Amino acid sequence: MFAPSHGIRRVHAPGAPRDALQLWHVDHPLVQHKLALLRDRETPMALFRQTVRDLGTLMVFAAGASLPTRPRALHTPLAATTAPSVDEGAVTLVPVLRAGLPLAEAFSALLPGARVGHVGVYRDANARPVEYLARLPAPVAAEHARCWVLDPMLATGHSAEHAIDVITRRGYPIGQLALVCLLAAPEGLDVLGARFPGLPVWTAAIDERLDEHAYIVPGLGDAGDRIFGTEH
Ligand code: URA
Repeated sequence: MFAPSHGIRRVHAPGAPRDALQLWHVDHPLVQHKLALLRDRETPMALFRQTVRDLGTLMVFAAGASLPTRPRALHTPLAATTAPSVDEGAVTLVPVLRAGLPLAEAFSALLPGARVGHVGVYRDANARPVEYLARLPAPVAAEHARCWVLDPMLATGHSAEHAIDVITRRGYPIGQLALVCLLAAPEGLDVLGARFPGLPVWTAAIDERLDEHAYIVPGLGDAGDRIFGTEH
């Protein structure tokens, strides 16, 4: 019998700081299948990059389920009617450079009217975020506005925390923000839960832990290096 048992489920971790998040695990079989390709160290760069994009398409579908719609008046070839529509211009995408870029491409393909900001962060020798770029469109002052921070890897949580601080300092209300990632470490989720209670987070997987170099285990390695073919 066909019984779709997977999709998007809310994750609770009672007693852990991450329980303060609205944490959504997208455990759809196609998402998990694509994630396995990313985890495989034999996956070559071009397929890796394309697979991050594919996952972006699947994740925007999941996260997009939270977008408000408004009735739009239009004429079909047969009749005047109204149809639910998303205000694409009220959506802001903020990829965290550089690994967030293929996610932003996929999100933009589905929401071409969304504006795109960029926050550039690299990790120093102590895995602390160092900012090198922050360019954001002006915030949209509307109840239905949304700002999605895109970063495939939520490891220590400090880069995402930094990006969210930059975005809110530029006037984006925290209530507009959400994070979309592919892999999340419990440590990073706890950091975000402690700092931003109520923040929606969509992830394709919650992995075991961080290693001593702040890499996610089992993880997929360095996402930026594998997307762009660079070496650490
Ligand atoms: N960033 C990555 O690219 N990989 C990790 O495992 C952690 C942070």
